[in-house]
Amino acid sequence: MQFFIDTADTDAIRELYATGLADGVTTNPSLIRKSGRDFKQVIAEICAMVDGPVSAEVLATAADTMVEEGRALASLAGNVVVKLPLTLDGLKACRQLSQDGIATNVTLCFSANQALLAAKAGATYISPFIGRLDDIHIDGMELIREIRVIYDNYGFETQILAASIRGPLHVKESALAGADVMTAPPEVIRALATHPLTDKGLATFLKDAAAAGISV
Ligand code: G3P
Repeated sequence: MQFFIDTADTDAIRELYATGLADGVTTNPSLIRKSGRDFKQVIAEICAMVDGPVSAEVLATAADTMVEEGRALASLAGNVVVKLPLTLDGLKACRQLSQDGIATNVTLCFSANQALLAAKAGATYISPFIGRLDDIHIDGMELIREIRVIYDNYGFETQILAASIRGPLHVKESALAGADVMTAPPEVIRALATHPLTDKGLATFLKDAAAAGISV
């Protein structure tokens, strides 16, 4: 499973990417706004910081303008992935950009039928939003499972990018469901490594080593 960092905070990306556990970055207009930075400048900076895919979202809603914006974003760096909303115009733009050889991430996906269309449009990634479905009492993880079955039924190469991840359980369940990628805020990724029994066990080991005068 690939791990993408869901943020436009370059300090947080730098720190987490240094662990070697992250494979890419996703952003969206809300995350760019939260960064307080110039959109294209922060995307270019992130692309220079990581080797993997960096998703940057178009703002247009008409297909032809989405394509223009997508080509402009793709020109910023070779690892830019153009994010497009799951609308008919977004799917039309996705097909054109995919034919241009530009990587695409179709986002704001909330149904299996939407994901089926994204695969038919040649999307590189599909981003089903788990947390936002959970928020309205619909099982977001069931969507991941449905998409996995559909994509495997037809050999679609579009990668399932589990998004709107709210905590470690979403990561585990997405992995069990066979998502190819997950994207999560930096604090969620860091939380994956923690367990109270690990902390307790390590403290005991170090205390016993000190008491016995053990050193390496
Ligand atoms: O990549 C999509 C993600 O940023 C959305 O997360 O928590 O706003 O639903 P959230």
